[in-house]
Amino acid sequence: MIGIDKIGFATPKYKLDLTDLALARQTDPEKYHSGLLLDEISIAPISEDIVTLAASSAKDILTKDDRESIDMVIVATETGIDQSKAAAVYVHHLLDIQPFARSFEVKEACYSATAALHYAKLHIEKSPESKVLVIASDIAKYGIASAGEPTQGAGSVAMLITSHPRILAFNDDNVAQTRDIMDFWRPNYSDVPMVDGLYSTKQYLDSLKTTWKEYQKRTGLTLEDFAAFCFHIPFPKLALKGLNKIMDRSLTPEKKEALSLAFDDSIRYSKQVGNIYTGSLYLSFLSLLETSSTLKAGDRIGFFSYGSGAVCEIFSGQLVDGYKDMLLANRQENLDKRTALSVEEYETLFYEKPQFDDKGDAAFSSYDKNAFYLSGMTNHQRQYKNTEEDA
Ligand code: CAA
Repeated sequence: MIGIDKIGFATPKYKLDLTDLALARQTDPEKYHSGLLLDEISIAPISEDIVTLAASSAKDILTKDDRESIDMVIVATETGIDQSKAAAVYVHHLLDIQPFARSFEVKEACYSATAALHYAKLHIEKSPESKVLVIASDIAKYGIASAGEPTQGAGSVAMLITSHPRILAFNDDNVAQTRDIMDFWRPNYSDVPMVDGLYSTKQYLDSLKTTWKEYQKRTGLTLEDFAAFCFHIPFPKLALKGLNKIMDRSLTPEKKEALSLAFDDSIRYSKQVGNIYTGSLYLSFLSLLETSSTLKAGDRIGFFSYGSGAVCEIFSGQLVDGYKDMLLANRQENLDKRTALSVEEYETLFYEKPQFDDKGDAAFSSYDKNAFYLSGMTNHQRQYKNTEEDA
C-alpha cells in the first residue's frame, strides 16, 4: 500500500475580497460570487515565492525522522523562479533534508503534481523504506483587469508519500490523456499567461468526459463506488460543471445528494484562496478531508487532474483508518487571519518587481511572513530566511 501519509498547506498572509475587486472593475459582485463561486483570493507579496510557499507548506508536517528518510523532493510548478536550478533544491536545503536525495522540479501546467505523485509511487514500489516529498507550489497571476484576474491565487500543498500512508492509499487505476492544444500557456518572455478562456473551459470539461469514459471502461467502476470526487479547481464553478458532467441519470438521488455535499466541502478552501494551479486539486482534497463530517475510512475518493496544454488524469484512492488524526483543526482560523488588502494595495503589492542595483542586489520590504521568506537578492542570488531564526 502506497499513498499520502501527511499533507500540509501554505498560502500568503494577504487576501483580496472579491466584492471589492468587482466594484473596482465596474462588475456585478455576483458575477464573481455566484458566476465563478469565488469569495476571496490570496495575494503573494514580493517576499513570497514558490520556494517560500513550498518550504512553509512542508515544514510543520515533517519530523526529524522524515527529514532523515526522505530521499526524493519533487516540486511541481508552472511558476518556476529559474530556468535552470530547480526550486526543489532550495526547498531541500531550507527543510534540512538528509543530503543523499534527488531533488528536482516538474512542469505541465496544473497537471504536474499528479505526475510527481505517480513517480513517487513508482519509486517507493522499488524502495519501500523511502519517503518522497511531493510539493505543488504556484502563484497564479493573470494581470490587472484581465478576465482571469478574479481567479488568481497563491499557495502550496505538500504531501509526504510513503509505503505506510495514514491518509490515503492510492489505487492502481490511473488513466491519463494528452492532447496538444493552446488553451493556456506562458511563453518565457511573458510574466502572465496567454489564455483562450472559453476554449480552456471547454477543453477541461471534454478532457474530463472522455477520460472518465475511458476510466469507467477500464475499471468497471461507476460514481456509485465513490464517496467524493475532487477536481482541479481553476475556479470552483468550473469544477461544479465537471461534477454535473459526470453525474449520469443512473445515479440514485441519495448518491447525487451525497456527492454534491462532498463537493461543497471540497471547494471551501479554494473559494477563499483562488487558483493555486497544480496544487489546487490537492487543496480540494484537503478541504474535503478537513471540513466533511460524513467521510469515513475505506471511502473511495476520485481525483480529476487537468493541466492546460493539455494533460489530464483520473485516479482514485481509499481513505485510511485514523486519517482524521493527521489533519489540522485550525485551518479556517489561519485563513481568516490573512490581512485584507484594498484593491489599490493589491495592485501595488502583487505586481512589485525587484529593483536591482548594478551589483545585482535588491532588498525587499518586510511583509507578513510564513515560516520562510525572501529577504532580497544578492548578486542575483535569492536570499531565503527562516522566520523563526529571525525571532
Ligand atoms: N451574476 C451572476 N452570474 C454572472 C453574472 C452576474 N451578474 N455575470 C456573469 N455571470 C456568470 C456567467 O453566466 C458565467 O457563468 P456560467 O459559465 O455558469 O454561465 C460566469 O459568471 C463567468 O462569466 P463569463 O462566462 O462572462 O466569463 P468571464 O469573463 O468571467 O471569464 C474565464 C471566465 C474565461 C474562465 C476567465 O475566468 C478566465 O480566463 N480564467 C482563466 C482561465 C481558466 O481558468 N480556465 C479554466 C480551464 S484551464 C485550467 O483549468 C488550467 C488553469 O488552472 C488555468
